[in-house]
Amino acid sequence: MALLGSMNFAALTLCVLVLAAHNYQAQASSRVIFGKKNFKSFVNYNSSVNGLCATSVIIRGYKCQEFEVTTPDGYILSIQRIPEGRYGVGSNVTKKEPVLIQHGVLVDGTTWFLNNPEQNLPMILADEGFDVWISNTRGTQYSRKHTTLDSSSQEYWNWSWDELVTDEMPAIVDFVYNQSGQQKINYVGHSLGTLVALASFSKGILVDQLKSAVLLSPIAYLSHMTTELGVVAAKSMLGETLTLMHMAEFDPKGVPVVDFMKGICAQTGIDCNHLFSSITGENCCLDTSAFDLFMNFEPQSSSTKNLFHLAQTVRSGVLTKFDYERPDANFKHYRQVTPPIYNLSNIPNNLPIFMSYGGRDALSDVIDVNNLLEHFKYHDEDKLSLQFIDNYAHADFIMAVNANDLVYKNVTSFFKRQF
Ligand SMILES: *[C@@H]1O[C@H](CO)[C@@H](O)[C@H](O)[C@H]1NC(C)=O
Ligand SMILES: *[C@@H]1O[C@H](CO)[C@@H](O)[C@H](O)[C@H]1NC(C)=O
Ligand SMILES: *[C@@H]1O[C@H](CO)[C@@H](O)[C@H](O)[C@H]1NC(C)=O
Ligand SMILES: *[C@@H]1O[C@H](CO)[C@@H](O)[C@H](O)[C@H]1NC(C)=O
Ligand SMILES: *[C@@H]1O[C@H](CO)[C@@H](O)[C@H](O)[C@H]1NC(C)=O
Ligand SMILES: *[C@@H]1O[C@H](CO)[C@@H](O)[C@H](O)[C@H]1NC(C)=O
Repeated sequence: MALLGSMNFAALTLCVLVLAAHNYQAQASSRVIFGKKNFKSFVNYNSSVNGLCATSVIIRGYKCQEFEVTTPDGYILSIQRIPEGRYGVGSNVTKKEPVLIQHGVLVDGTTWFLNNPEQNLPMILADEGFDVWISNTRGTQYSRKHTTLDSSSQEYWNWSWDELVTDEMPAIVDFVYNQSGQQKINYVGHSLGTLVALASFSKGILVDQLKSAVLLSPIAYLSHMTTELGVVAAKSMLGETLTLMHMAEFDPKGVPVVDFMKGICAQTGIDCNHLFSSITGENCCLDTSAFDLFMNFEPQSSSTKNLFHLAQTVRSGVLTKFDYERPDANFKHYRQVTPPIYNLSNIPNNLPIFMSYGGRDALSDVIDVNNLLEHFKYHDEDKLSLQFIDNYAHADFIMAVNANDLVYKNVTSFFKRQF
């Protein structure tokens, strides 16, 4: 039963993304029939236009620069910079504060640009005079290069979020820190972007180069996201574990994953048309065109090992490094028979943190957030801001049409308080 629970996260994430992708295909064909007249094009669909700047930023009147960052383990990541606001707004600010924005699992940086410039976080921050940086995790569409490995090889996908903590985020933060004249960085993470930050902070990683951190839909503990659907999907996934294990790249749009999910829907009679909300929670305020764009540009690949690592967190309720599931295998990697823990109580008490979480978030459950907050009991009172939004679910924090009013205005003023 414990093992069953462990598969919930992977299974859940899977369900939502895979089936959502399916629905998109259905919608796409109906759109051909009904035309595109209501479709707002904030993003350029031209498939020969490459890079996040070209698809999502420049077409809306913002400057944007593409960079590449190579991690110590050889991954070549694409990251983007929006140096100033629209039509040069804020270009006269002499010392611009850098902000680094990190997306969650199975999506990429495109996810921040699905709404119009008045509604999406990077552009709002650029218009407020910040120097905005967007990172894209290894394995996503613009970050699939490596110094020696091909993304079709198994070795390329041999990583979990441990490597994002030890190799990837430090390389990105170093790069942004240098590029912005060694100024401390304000960090924004959503979902997995919060877990990587929290785990890093607990090890003293990144903290010297960050000025503050905003954590949207924080995930660290995942034990309470238990839905009937999750249990059913988990049960089915257990039988498939071996097959999935061999699939080093976890491509939510790929045939093996899609077939597996179709099977679950057929067997259980679960209404797979509403999976996006059964998984992320009942999002209050998504624009349908943003949702369409999401289905076109996301979901993105991750590694199977990364999803297993997340699933282990669901099972144990304790945050540890990847568990190789056998004492000897753990010993080989860690010189101890159980994986080392990330003790979140070690996060420096004086690090300015702003957390925003939602009452309807099925992934970042309120009980789990409260468990996380137990570690902040001794945090300096004036360094911790908490915001709870009753009717928000997981995707609202990045895509809700009113996220600016409810969340981003607070984020901006939080950053400005750190000046
Ligand atoms: C797509 O972009 C390419 C390169 O910029 C351009 O040559 C081509 O005309 C574009 N196609 C469409 C349909 O806009
Ligand atoms: C920059 O220009 C805007 C409008 O042109 C002005 O409101 C603002 O005060 C200026 N900021 C600085 C730092 O000069
Ligand atoms: C995967 O990485 C681990 C270390 O993180 C290493 O021990 C193992 O041999 C690697 N496996 C493959 C197939 O490359
Ligand atoms: C940042 O600058 C330091 C000092 O000049 C240098 O050692 C380091 O390699 C640079 N890092 C990056 C990622 O550019
Ligand atoms: C985590 O750290 C806190 C404070 O340093 C300590 O009291 C607690 O025992 C540690 N937890 C574990 C599981 O090691
Ligand atoms: C968010 O902003 C509102 C309106 O300015 C304010 O009342 C509230 O205290 C802020 N919340 C946080 C956590 O900063």
